[in-house]
Amino acid sequence: MIKSILNKSSFTHSDIVQLLEANKQDTKILFAHSSKIKEHYIGNKVYLRGLIEFSNICEKNCYYCGIRKSNKNTKRFNLNDEAILSAALFAYKNNYASLVLQSGEIQSNSFTSRIEKLLRKIHKLSQGTLGITLSCGEQNKNTYERWLKAGARRYLLRIETSNRTLYKKLHPNNNMHSFDKRIECLQSLKELGYQTGTGVMIGLPFQNTTDLANDLLFMKNFDIDMCGMGPYILHKDTPLYKYTSTLLPIQKRLELSLKMVAILRIIMKDINIAATTALQAISSNAREHAVEIGANVIMPNITPDNYRDDYHLYQNKPKSININSQNTEHPKTTFFGNAEIGFGKYGDSPHFLKK
Ligand code: 5AD
Ligand code: SF4
Repeated sequence: MIKSILNKSSFTHSDIVQLLEANKQDTKILFAHSSKIKEHYIGNKVYLRGLIEFSNICEKNCYYCGIRKSNKNTKRFNLNDEAILSAALFAYKNNYASLVLQSGEIQSNSFTSRIEKLLRKIHKLSQGTLGITLSCGEQNKNTYERWLKAGARRYLLRIETSNRTLYKKLHPNNNMHSFDKRIECLQSLKELGYQTGTGVMIGLPFQNTTDLANDLLFMKNFDIDMCGMGPYILHKDTPLYKYTSTLLPIQKRLELSLKMVAILRIIMKDINIAATTALQAISSNAREHAVEIGANVIMPNITPDNYRDDYHLYQNKPKSININSQNTEHPKTTFFGNAEIGFGKYGDSPHFLKK
């Protein structure tokens, strides 16, 4: 039965729900199919994005997130420019070819111009060779445009869930946390010509497979270029923690996340899909598994080690690499699982390049 779905040229919502609810045996068939699609359309490479989590200061109060503004138990940090640039230099020297600058969300003139200057400096230190992705939340179109002009090429802004009612349950009900604004930002990024990435959390309270199927269709309809999605993971200092008993067991959330990656690969054959850190927080080889069945991007955390433990979106977040020691997450071989690491390659989304 699963084979008849997989043989279709496009999936309906109910096909996707059935795939998400597949039993163990059918899941194996799904994964074998998505692996083949990946190999055929993308090849066996996995591309690197050095992730710099440069500040955990955030003006927002998302109910799921450990660095939300109201969490007084978080030690706040904001890396100075020198530390950010030295991490960028690490990425450049180690042939990562791309990096991601990620932070909590701040909308201000000084934040906008700080990022603008950093982009120009990173451009200079890498002789224009580092592909820079930003993940700094919702901003107005003019800010996105300034950052694009200063050298950013890709932007990650997760929709978190495509279900507007669920979105409301996960965020305070005010202008700062508006579903429509999030969509508007994604539109702006796309219009400006960014390689645009989004994603969702999987296994959230109140979320079901109908929602997740809609999430995948949302990404397809929006025609995204990149996706980063992963399991929802608890954080005890957040309002959502009280729903812990309603959640799927963690292994089920992991399995569902892998199915989401596999199905997305089948319905969007040539986009970039990241094997996210949240997967790794559940199981040490989950990212390798995600790469095997559909993902083609990994984001080794290269935030300098004095700050690495303070960027706590969720519990059990894996440690980042220590760029000054041997104990690093920096790949030591040219393979990640069975995939060959694309050192020195931008690894742009083929989907974007064809547009
Ligand atoms: N579990 C999993 N992912 C989370 N994020 C924030 N909090 C959590 C959590 N508790 C994700 C959100 C956000 C990204 C930066 O981190 O999807 O967009
Ligand atoms: Fe801030 Fe992003 Fe966390 Fe929301 S998810 S509180 S915007 S860092």
